[in-house]
Amino acid sequence: MPTYKLRVNGAEKTVESWDPNQPLLYVLRDSLGLQGPKFGCGLGQCGACTVLMDRQAVRSCVTPLGKAAGHSITTLEGLGTPEKPHPIQAAFIAEQAAQCGFCANGMVMTATALLDRTPKPTVEQVKQGLAGAICRCGTHTRIIRAVLRASRA
Ligand code: FES
Ligand code: FES
Repeated sequence: MPTYKLRVNGAEKTVESWDPNQPLLYVLRDSLGLQGPKFGCGLGQCGACTVLMDRQAVRSCVTPLGKAAGHSITTLEGLGTPEKPHPIQAAFIAEQAAQCGFCANGMVMTATALLDRTPKPTVEQVKQGLAGAICRCGTHTRIIRAVLRASRA
């Protein structure tokens, strides 16, 4: 079976697949056991599956394995741990920025890429940066507060 090499959360991984178009999301969740990225729409429209590829936020449900091969992938698990959360994760906890939590992966990963590009964003820049990430619970006000808190950390 063909194999693909990826660097995932700092570790070299080799995965097998017959299909170079297999979504990266399936590889991360099903082959590598990483449950941070979520399956929401599967169409690149909600953001729940967002991961970082070479520090850019990408939607793993529409990123083919063949395109991800050779790149560095960071998932929610690669940002921090419960004992030592990443500043963005800590800010989401401090602001209680989740209700059901299903969007949280996409919000945190998208915000991580945003703060990487724009370390001190305005409220408007945070809104723009997160515009494509959908929260069905309406937690946006707290999420924006959390991103601003992280930018001050
Ligand atoms: S599950 Fe990937 S964008 Fe919705
Ligand atoms: S907290 Fe439920 S979808 Fe955002």
